[in-house]
Amino acid sequence: MTDDSSDAPRTAKAGKGQTMWGGRFSEKPAELMQAINVSIGFDRRLAVQDLAGSRAHAAMLRKAGVISSDDEAAIQDGLSRIEAEIADGSFPYREEFEDIHMNVEARLSELIGPAAGRLHTARSRNDQVALDFRMWVREACGRTIDQLRALQRALLAKAEAHAATLMPGFTHLQPAQPVTFGHHLMAYLEMFGRDAARFADARVRMNESPLGAAALAGSSFPIDRDDTARALGFERPTANSLDSVADRDFALEALAAGTISAIHLSRLAEELVIWMTPQFGFVRLSDAFTTGSSIMPQKKNPDAAELVRAKAGRLLAAFTQLAVVMKGLPLTYSKDMQEDKAATFEAFDALELSLKAMAGMVADMEPNAERMAAAAGAGFSTATDLADWLVRELGLPFREAHHLTGAAVKRAELLGFDLATLPLSELQALHPGLTEAVYGVLTPEASVASRRSYGGTAPDQVRAQIKRWKEILR
Ligand code: ARG
Repeated sequence: MTDDSSDAPRTAKAGKGQTMWGGRFSEKPAELMQAINVSIGFDRRLAVQDLAGSRAHAAMLRKAGVISSDDEAAIQDGLSRIEAEIADGSFPYREEFEDIHMNVEARLSELIGPAAGRLHTARSRNDQVALDFRMWVREACGRTIDQLRALQRALLAKAEAHAATLMPGFTHLQPAQPVTFGHHLMAYLEMFGRDAARFADARVRMNESPLGAAALAGSSFPIDRDDTARALGFERPTANSLDSVADRDFALEALAAGTISAIHLSRLAEELVIWMTPQFGFVRLSDAFTTGSSIMPQKKNPDAAELVRAKAGRLLAAFTQLAVVMKGLPLTYSKDMQEDKAATFEAFDALELSLKAMAGMVADMEPNAERMAAAAGAGFSTATDLADWLVRELGLPFREAHHLTGAAVKRAELLGFDLATLPLSELQALHPGLTEAVYGVLTPEASVASRRSYGGTAPDQVRAQIKRWKEILR
């Protein structure tokens, strides 16, 4: 019904029941048709991109001799005025013009008259929306990379302050081996680094201009697609006109990257929630990132962390929504694709908020080093160190050392000792070769300091990674 498959200029003469595409129609659309069709409520967020695309297109049409210099000047002038209206909030977004593209064109025609009707030469809303949305997603990727970098810097600063602060490392949420808080934070820094790289990769792939694909088949006018691509900061024009108007991979890819990033955020958020329980008591957040309870005066709730944890749902929902919209769609454009935008916008809003809130919380949080150190030494967390000592000093096979250590843990548990306090006689009952020297590896400090392998938790290894990231993030 709203097929833009003609390259012919449309004249914006909507109003009085006339739509821009109304030439072959004798009746007005039903109210419900308009209600389901209208997208200006959300695609107004493409206004800036739409204007940029129109400016580049008009300039190219003039250079190609398709429109006159006077017409181009009038169009550029009108677009500038629209830009100002959008900036100062006076632009009239009108539902009767359906979407942002026709709203801009209708306004242009009110401002400059008939020359406005020449702007849509050699262009369709199909390549126009593909262009606008692609530019929006491209910018969103850039912004997200910046937000990820800011979060990484916050993590880096905390990690540097706590490169040697002990904490228990967990598997199965059971104390496993002592690590340092800095090491733990640097794990997230790595994740967010990969996230940023995913956005950067996606950005490279999406950086081709679909403008000039027109409705689907290309244009009969002598357009210069390289020119508009260059003007709009693209690497090159897309190479297939059908693909150009049908492709929404760029958004799917960005949402996939966003989903992964939100999943990473949710894991850190969950850890903050756990660490903030009185039972753990590992970190404190200030009043800036916590809320009170209206009934329980003692409470300090980590709402921001909980909300970051939950927002991951929005990212995955947006990815899923767009994937389902695109699945099975025949080439090329179908109006289904109008449903690509709202969820994408909301998803990036949620991601931005989450990244900023998390950066704020990371900068804000203060670890309780004493509590974490005590927990790091509890739960027989240096059992592996005992087993390793038996291998290293007594030449036992690791499996045998593992078994012996298990017996030592069992004995210590029974007698109410830690490994570090279990009397030597008890140890020697298990293996006569054990000496006083073994206690040197049974403290969490010693355990952590010994894990010097590349990427390990020894503070000097952690500091080496901090140094590497400092350079990357500079
Ligand atoms: N508002 C439409 C969208 O978001 C623009 C493209 C419309 N194209 C068409 N042939 N009806 O997809």
